[in-house]
Amino acid sequence: MRILNVVLFLVFISYSFIVVVTDKHPFYIPKHFPKPYYQFKDVPQGRLRFELGRTLFYDPALSRDSSISCATCHLQYTGFTHIDHPVSHGIDGRIGTRNSPVMINLAWNKFFHWDGGVIHLNAQAINPLTHPKEMDMDIVELLKRLNNSSFYRKRFYAAFGDSVITTPLLMRGIANFSVALVSANSKYDKVILKEEGVAFTDQEQRGYDLFQKYCNACHTEPLYTSHEFKKNGLELDPELKDLGRMGITERKADSLLFKIPTLRNVEFSFPYMHDGRIQKLKEVIEHYSSLPTGNKNVSKELKKIKKPFTEEQKKDLLAFLKTLTDKEFLYNKDFSFPRGER
Ligand code: HEC
Ligand code: HEC
Repeated sequence: MRILNVVLFLVFISYSFIVVVTDKHPFYIPKHFPKPYYQFKDVPQGRLRFELGRTLFYDPALSRDSSISCATCHLQYTGFTHIDHPVSHGIDGRIGTRNSPVMINLAWNKFFHWDGGVIHLNAQAINPLTHPKEMDMDIVELLKRLNNSSFYRKRFYAAFGDSVITTPLLMRGIANFSVALVSANSKYDKVILKEEGVAFTDQEQRGYDLFQKYCNACHTEPLYTSHEFKKNGLELDPELKDLGRMGITERKADSLLFKIPTLRNVEFSFPYMHDGRIQKLKEVIEHYSSLPTGNKNVSKELKKIKKPFTEEQKKDLLAFLKTLTDKEFLYNKDFSFPRGER
């Protein structure tokens, strides 16, 4: 009997220890990153909120016919984008008009979506949830569904101290997952942070130098975006007729401007650009290399590319871009499909 008590006590102690140790929200600010834009004071974080967000993110019950989840279009091992088609595929196989962007370092974003149509991460999820070509869910119906589930009521109570699930609470729940997706452990980061035994190869270093000269004005390190809207030489697609930023501001000057995407994990986030029109990273480099041959549709930062890159320069750039791959992020178990009781 006494032995049993001791065993039970030990089990209890180690359980409490695990709970205490894992109680932290996984978001962190890497040493070499600027201050995040996201206002954490509005949303105090905690592990339970993160886990709730993660469960919601992976749950197809959030879509009209319970067939697709956020993760259907935002797969972890590609940097949280989709890969097998140019523009997104939603409910009933309905085809959208844009390529799903990666979900990386979102706490530093001022704008969301390719045209910046969303300005707060806490409000973003309402778009895919209700979009007829994405999850096509009626919010009232969704709240009913969630409030009828004792699983979710318990978890909202544990995370927010409230078991009545409302739209703002649902949005905050999801944002608690999205905001945690920090990628800052690529080879590039290790070189910048002078981690012992990590160095660029000569080729990567040459690529980095080229990148600084021709790309960094827009894909600004360490986040690999300056968060602005620019034109990088893509022609208007005659079928999609996507005018980018102009669709939001209605200003002619904003025609064909798109949000500069981060290039972190770009090795795996194909296809590329707002409509996924470019399949391979090599072809993206080819695209930038061909700009000097008379492409007028470019922002001024790209005018520095005065002649096509040599074959060697192209290889160097490619080698450098691959140093932005962060396997620890792509395979971080915290961000993967949550296993456990339902
Ligand atoms: C059917 C595919 C699809 C589903 C399902 C989907 N998304 Fe997206 N997501 C997209 C596309 C496409 C965009 C770009 C929209 C645009 O630019 O107009 C996007 C954009 C985003 C962005 C903005 C990223 C940025 O840097 O601008 C976030 C965050 C996001 N989605 C999170 C979610 C969450 C959370 C869910 C689930 C509630 C979800 N998505 C469900 C396709 C999808
Ligand atoms: C004028 C600013 C600007 C400069 C300079 C620039 N880019 Fe871009 N880049 C963009 C914009 C804007 C997009 C998105 C365009 C779109 O989808 O319509 C983009 C998209 C990309 C993408 C696709 C990423 C994705 O997830 O779809 C890659 C890769 C890329 N750029 C690499 C580079 C490289 C390499 C250089 C230097 C040779 C460079 N860029 C220089 C603005 C710029």
